[in-house]
Amino acid sequence: MARSIRHEADLLRIGFAVDPGALFVQQFADHADNGDVRQLVAAAKSVGAIVVVDGAQLVPHYPTDVEALGADFLVFSGHKMLGPTGIGVMWGKAERLEELEPTEGGGEMISDVQLYESRWAPVPQKFEAGTPPIAQAIGLGAAVDYLEKIGMTAVREHEVDITGYALERLADVPELTVYGPSDPNRRGGAVSFELADIHAHDVATILDQYGIAVRAGHHCAKPLMRHLEVAATARASFYVYNTHDDVDRLVDALMEARKIFGLDA
Ligand SMILES: Cc1ncc(COP(=O)(O)O)c(C=O)c1O
Repeated sequence: MARSIRHEADLLRIGFAVDPGALFVQQFADHADNGDVRQLVAAAKSVGAIVVVDGAQLVPHYPTDVEALGADFLVFSGHKMLGPTGIGVMWGKAERLEELEPTEGGGEMISDVQLYESRWAPVPQKFEAGTPPIAQAIGLGAAVDYLEKIGMTAVREHEVDITGYALERLADVPELTVYGPSDPNRRGGAVSFELADIHAHDVATILDQYGIAVRAGHHCAKPLMRHLEVAATARASFYVYNTHDDVDRLVDALMEARKIFGLDA
């Protein structure tokens, strides 16, 4: 039987550890109503922080009501939501955007230039110096339209369904350690695991030979990996295009990997 290691952050402890004035960026799975993010934003706000929500793993997977979040900024990436690389979105409260100085200079971002001073164009042009990534913006717009047509509630429901099925099936793989909450409603659509003491990169290489792409490594979560005392995990990520069949193929390939690594000997 697989082993399950559950880890959930203590949200309020994190929230109240924030220094007043600090930028507060976070990422994790959430409730369908963004309840966890809203709770964290409120905790950060209560100590006077300017709050930036890193929504790279939020916006592609959950219905997101930017007003209800209460944050000052929300950012997310195009390539994590079926869009092209090289583009993302920064949403900010109008008054915050007015306060910010642009960090890039270039065409289309000034309203006037004198010899000794310049005035910036209004928001958002002052932040959009130079020729914009036109093709990427059109591609990201198409991705947003596509996801909205499916409906973000349906996207989230599909992820919960498929992640729940994956957790159920992976539980039958001997010597597999599965990380994270066992309730699919309390996690995103990604499942990290370790097969016995085989390095995650080796597991990923074998899975790749069966046509299954997983990510292996520390997943940009080194402090958590150290806390859990694991060097690396393999991670299957599910999205709108995955089916129960894909999960079955993952489980079959893990069983094959067990044989290849002599675990069934
Ligand atoms: C929460 C979060 N923020 C930021 C990033 C990085 O985004 P990008 O690839 O657009 O730099 C990632 C993924 O790599 C992520 O998961």
